[in-house]
Amino acid sequence: PVTCSHAIRGSFFDITRTVSTPDELLDAARYIEDGLLLLNAGKIVSLSPWQEESSQLPPGCELVDYRGKLIVPGFVDTHIHYPQTEMIGAFGEQLLEWLNQYTFPVESQYHCPQHSAQMSAFFLQQLLSNGTTTALVFGTVHPESVDALFSAAHGLGMRLIAGKVMMDRHAPEALTETPEQSYRQTRELIERWHNVGRLSYALTPRFAPTSSPQLLEKVRQLRQEFPDTWLHTHLSENPQEVAWVKALFPENSGYLDVYHQYQLTGRRSLFAHCLHLEDEEWDCLHHTDSAVAFCPTSNLFLGSGLFDLQTCWQKGVKMGVGTDVGAGTTFNMLQTLGEAYKVGQLQRYKLSACEAFYHATLGGAKALDLDRHIGSFMPGKDADFVAIDPAVSALQTLRHGNSRDIWEKLFVLMTLGDDRNIAATWVEGRCVWQCDKSRQAA
Ligand code: GUN
Ligand code: ZN
Repeated sequence: PVTCSHAIRGSFFDITRTVSTPDELLDAARYIEDGLLLLNAGKIVSLSPWQEESSQLPPGCELVDYRGKLIVPGFVDTHIHYPQTEMIGAFGEQLLEWLNQYTFPVESQYHCPQHSAQMSAFFLQQLLSNGTTTALVFGTVHPESVDALFSAAHGLGMRLIAGKVMMDRHAPEALTETPEQSYRQTRELIERWHNVGRLSYALTPRFAPTSSPQLLEKVRQLRQEFPDTWLHTHLSENPQEVAWVKALFPENSGYLDVYHQYQLTGRRSLFAHCLHLEDEEWDCLHHTDSAVAFCPTSNLFLGSGLFDLQTCWQKGVKMGVGTDVGAGTTFNMLQTLGEAYKVGQLQRYKLSACEAFYHATLGGAKALDLDRHIGSFMPGKDADFVAIDPAVSALQTLRHGNSRDIWEKLFVLMTLGDDRNIAATWVEGRCVWQCDKSRQAA
């Protein structure tokens, strides 16, 4: 008899293993219409059909009845900026003007620990109420911003990767630092937070244009000294940005080559956007086992371009989905997948629901080198999951009444779904967010 703290009954969907082509996904997918998930000490013990286990719940095990809900692994957001929560939906500009006009002024406030703490709490509630249990997060240049975020995430038991922005040029004085300061403050944060509980540190140079060669050299040095940290930055998002990088770094063969030269590519490196890559850059991402983040709502909102999913698969580059709030326009992964589908449509790529949910769960986990811990219901993984109510509006109820199978249900969820569909979010075997039933009924 197994020991377990909770037994969750409901419908379960996950992708059980990572794949190298979308064709393998159907075989790797698992749907259990009436299933039982056993948890203990924050980990998954087993997932099986209800009948087998129903009569033999061990004593002390609490049964949670989520019948009628679809339970999937917690969503993984592979690229997001927590300080930009308060400036989501800023009108009219593309990347470089948007940064100067809206982003930098807002980020200037995060020297203040109180403001950082308040916004960290708000941000993490947004993630959890949208079913996102793990994220790779940008702070600001201020160490206070990252102290506040890690501290709040630690209190919730969330698996989170974050880092302080490193930048020393082409930004307001209040947001720039010297390479030496950047090195020292980053080092202190790594020593304070990296591998504390479920927290990990990401070296976070903002992007090549705000990094001098001296700063990039400091990033290289830190990565060498702390080889198990992550590297998180932006790459090839906007055509003007790409041209600017070529002007700033004329010796390099292209944008990615700037990062590559400083040994910032690799297994735990994640590059957001990647919309205007040369063939050789895709090859370099593959050879170095680097990962990319596809941020559809941001790419459309800033008019940056269309992510090429087909090439990403063909080149064998690991990919996760990012909301990229506040250039992205939602924290919600269902809405983000719906926009990803439309980005596919514009390029004649059919993003199936199965593939979309893979990218948002196990694929994202793989991109973050966390697939040993999260992304599916395999025994031993962290008990991070989300219970989805498939029909919370008249339109959704009508449409789900017509849907024939799990694939259609999932696809309609990513087309019509949003935060109203998130019934409960569990982290490390504890329910950390639950929707207000009375509000939902209203
Ligand atoms: N490139 C450099 N900084 C940023 C940022 O804050 N958001 C986005 N979308 N791209 C960036
Ligand atoms: Zn970003």
